[in-house]
Amino acid sequence: MRSLVVYESSFGNTQRIANVVADGLAADGEVTLVSVDDELPPLAEFDLLVVGAPTHVHGLSSRLSRKGALDQQGRKGDGGIGVRGWLEALPLLGRPAVAVFDTRANKPELLVGSAAHGMARRLRRRGYRLAAEPESFFVAGTPGPLEDGELARAGEWAKTLASEVMSPAA
Ligand SMILES: Cc1cc2nc3c(=O)[nH]c(=O)nc-3n(C[C@H](O)[C@H](O)[C@H](O)COP(=O)(O)O)c2cc1C
Repeated sequence: MRSLVVYESSFGNTQRIANVVADGLAADGEVTLVSVDDELPPLAEFDLLVVGAPTHVHGLSSRLSRKGALDQQGRKGDGGIGVRGWLEALPLLGRPAVAVFDTRANKPELLVGSAAHGMARRLRRRGYRLAAEPESFFVAGTPGPLEDGELARAGEWAKTLASEVMSPAA
């Protein structure tokens, strides 16, 4: 199985989850891990695409929210394309299978939103099959850190993804 893991991360928490997901998937094949700002290999080379992003203002980040996250850290830059822009540029392929996760506060989704649900909606609209329900991993505050146990949970999630892609449920 060939997997591509793409992440957006302002404070590093989503990147940490993406690292663990990539390590978990590596048990079942080749994995390429890239930031959404990196040059991406052609999608058609992969069996599974995993996309991770932080939840900003109840959904996917915007240019303004990414800039806000950088400002909070005293960092310069415009915050890049973000997963929102990246998804808009995705071909209407339907392949590879996809899975999405976000990082967010550990509160009801109705109150804090979820970038993963926004990604899932956009991907389905573009014809992609979701190999799993959107998943969230929790941070203790805006800069993090991740809550205890979330890295381990991400590793387990990666294993379930691999088995779902290699033998999809009917
Ligand atoms: C501008 C901004 C808006 C945010 N809005 C939300 C939100 O609506 N819901 C939520 O759960 N977390 C929100 N957060 C917290 C982020 O989810 C948290 O910073 C992120 O998960 C950390 O991921 P990262 O380290 O990969 O950037 C917000 C953070 C920023 C910077």
